[in-house]
Amino acid sequence: MCGIIGYCGNEDSVVRLIDGLKALEYRGYDSAGVSLFAEDGILTVKASGRIANIDTRLADEHSGVHAECGIGHTRWATTGKPNDINSHPHNSGKVSIVHNGIIENYKELKRACEQQGVVFASETDSEVIAALINLKYTETGDVMQSLRWTMAQLTGSYAVAALFADREKHVFAFRHDNPLIAAATADGNYLASDFAAVSKYTDRYYLPEDGDIVEMTADYIKFFDADGNEKQIEPVVVTDMNRADGKQGYPHYMLKEIHEVPRAIRDTCKDHIYENLPTFDKELTEKLAGAGRIYIIACGTALNAGKLGKTYFEKYAGIPVSCETASEFRYFPPILNENDRFIFISQSGETADTAASLRMVKARGLYTIAVVNTPNSTIAREADNVIYTRAGTETAVASTKAYNAQASLLFILALGAALEKGTVSEETAAALADKLVNQLPEAVETILADTEKIKALSEKYCTAHSCFFIGRGPDFYLAEESSLKLKEISYIHCEAYAAGELKHGTIALIEPDVPVISIISGDKIRSKTINNAAEVKAREAKVLMVTDRDTDEAEHTADDVYVIHCPDSDLFHICAAVFFQLFAYHTALGKGWDVDKPRNLAKSVTVE
Ligand code: G6P
Repeated sequence: MCGIIGYCGNEDSVVRLIDGLKALEYRGYDSAGVSLFAEDGILTVKASGRIANIDTRLADEHSGVHAECGIGHTRWATTGKPNDINSHPHNSGKVSIVHNGIIENYKELKRACEQQGVVFASETDSEVIAALINLKYTETGDVMQSLRWTMAQLTGSYAVAALFADREKHVFAFRHDNPLIAAATADGNYLASDFAAVSKYTDRYYLPEDGDIVEMTADYIKFFDADGNEKQIEPVVVTDMNRADGKQGYPHYMLKEIHEVPRAIRDTCKDHIYENLPTFDKELTEKLAGAGRIYIIACGTALNAGKLGKTYFEKYAGIPVSCETASEFRYFPPILNENDRFIFISQSGETADTAASLRMVKARGLYTIAVVNTPNSTIAREADNVIYTRAGTETAVASTKAYNAQASLLFILALGAALEKGTVSEETAAALADKLVNQLPEAVETILADTEKIKALSEKYCTAHSCFFIGRGPDFYLAEESSLKLKEISYIHCEAYAAGELKHGTIALIEPDVPVISIISGDKIRSKTINNAAEVKAREAKVLMVTDRDTDEAEHTADDVYVIHCPDSDLFHICAAVFFQLFAYHTALGKGWDVDKPRNLAKSVTVE
């Protein structure tokens, strides 16, 4: 998703801004641009495609340009196509801006600006911000007044950084419901949408509040409140941060991150096992044990991990759990009760819909828990209680190790709640915790060592234009995540179906070149799901069965059977997810796609 960087300092700002943009690349984007104070005013260079295109344009058209101050942006298109014109920065008169977020009332604002003679170049909502600031600045000559007035016109979410042509070497910024930080480093002063952009220069940053205005030069960073009074903000010191550590010799971040799953599980869980028992802060387990219902709220892969969590809390602690899609929950919440508890799961900790749902629940005075992978992120800061997954930085857009870490954490948390509630014995909890933290990572290593076989399977199935994943119960929840992974990076149309539901309509889509991947674990539903696989086989679908044991029935039904041995059937899904992550990876690679930066997707989705 969009990224912002701003720089003022004695170093070459072109290098600093491009560096910052590259650090934000992982969020996903489809165009990029910079505005700099060059010798004869603001120079804006922008282009669709990769950041390298900006580098090329700067070298070809503005070779030798030097500036000590500027702003930059990576755009993930929302309003208007991902082309050169719609890329940021957007300029109007003396003003150049970059914007993250969405301006909901931009159409009416645009009409009002047009009535005042503004001619817009792009289709974006963002350009209207540049136009409004410039109109007010032309009228008043007052930067602060023009920024405050503009904020008052905008409805929606935004983080904005701006240059004024006649305020050389200054960057101004403001935010509302969208992340923006400032950081003073030995190299110069920075503004960024994300701490990752500056984490290699510093371990501390300032977090302006909604409605604050930031003024930055090479010498200072000042903050002003909504009334224009200068204010002090204490820096956030990051003691526990995820640092980007490159590909470590792997050809892609995604492959590296899949190989980090065993470590991610161990690191996440070991903090919560004390004297062999699941251990959490007392308030947390008491709150969970006393819950009438737990709501797990998240998006994408995090939501799929939450669904596995539901099975753990229900089985071990006997607490009913509802999993909710954050974008739905925030506008259509179910009837909530005082003793309901709310777990928000997010890798980035910045997902707009998840953060908005958290705020909605908090505003009702209900108890919130964040399960987050990024220290100090918005969701981590705002929840009543935060538990970190220790997956480390996840750079590939398609989430992998974070999923395994989230599900593992929910498993141990459910056991913690169950112990508190007395629904499992210490002996059982200790045995399960041992399986989770010691045996499960070993089972994952076995899958990681089987790459050639998984690659061969992906080659056999990758010619499909459409594909179904089926399973029941937690197998279905894993089917949902596996289907999401495959569609995200291979662009094959995939659907996950509850195995028993397929025949109620969707089976009409089954034909010889539509493979069905059937996930089967445990005993309870084994023969039922095998029967469902047989139904599609009878319609000539190719069937790949991924299961926890080989049986004659499986061999007779499926074209291929892949067996994953796991220490406990409840942990099968965390383990088998790695097979499907590798399966998706090799399928996408075989098709020649950029697995780390799949088309249209963003890592950190900061718009709703
Ligand atoms: C985006 C990403 C997904 C991710 C989802 C939720 O859609 O592409 O990989 O699962 O957001 O992100 P979060 O950071 O909240 O886990």
